[in-house]
Amino acid sequence: MDNRSQWGTRIGFLLAAIGSAVGLGNIWRFPATAFENGGGAFFVPYLFALLTAGIPLLIMEYTIGHKYRSSAPRSFSKISKGMEWIGWWQVLISFVISTYYPIIITWSAMYAYFAIGTKWGDDGAAFFTGDFLNVTDAGSFGSIVPMVMIPLLVVWIIVFFILGRGVRKGIEWANRIFIPTLFIVFLIIVIRAVTLPGAIDGLDAFFKPDWSSIMDGSVWVAAYGQIFFSLSIAFAIMITYASYLPRKSDITNNAFITGFANSSFELLAGIGVFAVLGFMALQSGEEVSEVVDDGMALAFMVFPEIINQMPASGFFGFLFFASLFLAGLSSMISISETYIAGLQEKFSITRGKALLFGGGLAFLASLLYANQGGLNLLDTVDYFINNYGVALAGLFEVVAIAWFARSLKDLQQHADSISDIKLGLWWRFCLGVITPIILGYMMLQNLKGDLEENYAGYPIDFLFNFGWLVALGAMLIGALITMKKWPKKNHQA
Ligand code: ALA
Repeated sequence: MDNRSQWGTRIGFLLAAIGSAVGLGNIWRFPATAFENGGGAFFVPYLFALLTAGIPLLIMEYTIGHKYRSSAPRSFSKISKGMEWIGWWQVLISFVISTYYPIIITWSAMYAYFAIGTKWGDDGAAFFTGDFLNVTDAGSFGSIVPMVMIPLLVVWIIVFFILGRGVRKGIEWANRIFIPTLFIVFLIIVIRAVTLPGAIDGLDAFFKPDWSSIMDGSVWVAAYGQIFFSLSIAFAIMITYASYLPRKSDITNNAFITGFANSSFELLAGIGVFAVLGFMALQSGEEVSEVVDDGMALAFMVFPEIINQMPASGFFGFLFFASLFLAGLSSMISISETYIAGLQEKFSITRGKALLFGGGLAFLASLLYANQGGLNLLDTVDYFINNYGVALAGLFEVVAIAWFARSLKDLQQHADSISDIKLGLWWRFCLGVITPIILGYMMLQNLKGDLEENYAGYPIDFLFNFGWLVALGAMLIGALITMKKWPKKNHQA
């Protein structure tokens, strides 16, 4: 018997896992990613990626965490020594995400405040990039933006507080409050959204397939990236969370519940957002495609303008940004937990020290985005760490487990021995054959595109320093940490 921290109840674990999955990815990123990548046609690669990669990988990560009861790097190293590196790489991806994720949570908190009395005025874009962030050109940092910096400190204090209280009293407790609240609030928003005039045109635009995009590699990588990011897989989170499961836990069932809860929420977010866009299009006499913009712009530039035109605008706006805040916070906690667990085990230090060191570094790095150049920086880091971090690490993970360590059968046996639903050949086939081939091929296509054309038209040196180098850096630093041996004894939280 070890004294590793454990979730108090099954529902506690599920709420924490769903809390991790349902995040900014669902509300801030999914609707626009779907729209940009072919609208309804995006559902083909999306559903394909969910069923053949997302859920099978989630089952695999739950099984690994449960079986080896360790952080991601330690669990991978127990499967095969050479795989420890993939674990650290994933932890570092989480670290990078945890530097910009709290910025979006901070914006959400500020926007929940601005919503009361619709302080953002009539021009959403001008307010966001001008009055609020005072954005400079890509590549320059400008000065600190106090309206971001100060609430950012508060967000970090909340994150430190929850994580400091540990797995059961901190993470589980917070999610028990956040997640039910989030679901109720979001349901209110969506019901309101679909009953607005013009909603049906928005939904039509969302679900109308653009079949020409289906053969485009970048659309598929976007779908896999979205599924992985949204399900919190391939960046060490779900392995860490599952490592706190009691011995007697149903793995496969829990994975299906988490996966479907997350995708249902995502779909709900898409429906809500596009219904509102339809309303906006009707008000302004434009096409829905003219009012839609990329993820960041959609939530913080387009939405405020739409909210202005709705009845009870302040209330509705507050609910929307408060739900973004809650969804973000519960995911942020899980993202940071990956490096707390990893550092604790590798350096045999207490949870408090690991939090102080890992969280402290992430906090310092997050200040980079709290200045006038933060928006472009965030956009770039987010794109590269997802496409050449999360999605690539997911590819390496399945290839390493299925082809090199050949552990799928072993993991299947473990999952089957404790779960009601038994895994079949389909599971091994999805992970060992379909995912590596499709994701591998699409990744190469996407890489070609990104090498030929600068992402979002940013200057090449900016993309090199904050895109390519950050993504590659996570991989390389991961390899460096691997050189240190594991201690014989560990502190347990
Ligand atoms: N799964 C989290 C999200 O969707 C990270 O934002």
